[in-house]
Amino acid sequence: MEIIKSFTFGGFPSRAVLYDKQDLLPEDTALFVADSHTKSLISRPEGLAEVILTPGEEGKQWDAVDKILKLAMKEGLARDSVICGAGGGVVTDMTAFAGSLYMRGCRVILIPTSLLAMVDAALGGKTGIDAGVYKNMIGSFYPAEEVRICPEILGDLPEKEYRNGLGEVLKTAIIGDAALLNLIKERRESVLARDPEVLAQIIRRCILVKGALVEEDLREKGRRAFLNLGHTFGHALEAVSEFRWSHGAGVVWGMGKALEASVRLGLAKPAWADEMKQLFLDYGYELEAPEDPVGILEAMKMDKKKQRGKLRYILPAGPQDIRIEFLDPDFVLEVLKA
Ligand SMILES: NC(=O)c1ccc[n+]([C@@H]2O[C@H](COP(=O)([O-])OP(=O)(O)OC[C@H]3O[C@@H](n4cnc5c(N)ncnc54)[C@H](O)[C@@H]3O)[C@@H](O)[C@H]2O)c1
Repeated sequence: MEIIKSFTFGGFPSRAVLYDKQDLLPEDTALFVADSHTKSLISRPEGLAEVILTPGEEGKQWDAVDKILKLAMKEGLARDSVICGAGGGVVTDMTAFAGSLYMRGCRVILIPTSLLAMVDAALGGKTGIDAGVYKNMIGSFYPAEEVRICPEILGDLPEKEYRNGLGEVLKTAIIGDAALLNLIKERRESVLARDPEVLAQIIRRCILVKGALVEEDLREKGRRAFLNLGHTFGHALEAVSEFRWSHGAGVVWGMGKALEASVRLGLAKPAWADEMKQLFLDYGYELEAPEDPVGILEAMKMDKKKQRGKLRYILPAGPQDIRIEFLDPDFVLEVLKA
């Protein structure tokens, strides 16, 4: 094992650690949570109490958390017992949420198995479930005491899911790490081939960027919001397309629009914005969407981050230079039409 870094998130100690595959399960796990795709990735002792969830966002609802809590009670877990969740962001969000509730907070260790969960979801303490169609409406801030990562486990992750994670990697590099951006540019073949060595470097760097922002701002009152780069545009496109656009593809398209807005506002140099857009295209992402710009704008207006009729956007002004701006809807419509 290799400790990537130990953090303190709002008073909670948390650390990210690289492990070999066979060592991923904590020895003192009292309750194991996974979904039916990820359960077989982790070897575990016979008889271990476990909850196997339905995979995917549709299952990110209260009844899944209820199952975890009921089994924790039945098994007589104490506050110092470990609940271990192994899966993508859905499993890690729900396991940590259940852990935050059980006896007002028991020990939680997470094993992210998707790239998105490794570089983003499992670290930083946001937990939760959806409420009907409303994403992440119910939750808590409760960082896992340890996030155990093994890039080798990404071997069988479906390509669409891998690309969802890569979208967040591109975002993280633009927000906070010039060396990561270079690595992504220079080692594209290896990244797309999921070379575990290159992936370990990428994941390590993403964790350092996210961890630093969360240490400074667990509850997203300030700079943690940078992590939403591309998301306001992207979520709206996902919704309008009725989720034909996947999350990662939407975020990268959204970063293209955020770059366009930055250039029009005179924040970013056109040459740099073009360079970033070319990188997205080189990775096979689409920067043009056939969806109606007016419909996308309407979807963004539903977004909760509004102030005096203007919408809040995270804009890249340059490498690792991110701004938060409130934009006029008419201006945003012009950007969407571009
Ligand atoms: N807490 C946070 O800070 C945070 C940040 C970003 C996203 N999220 C949440 O994360 C969720 C998305 O996470 P996700 O993209 O990992 O989706 P997911 O959890 O639905 O996983 C995607 C699919 O891949 C499967 N899978 C995962 N790992 C696998 C592997 N190694 N091999 C084969 N199949 C595997 C899963 O079973 C699932 O079917 C959303 O609910 C989102 O709200 C949370």
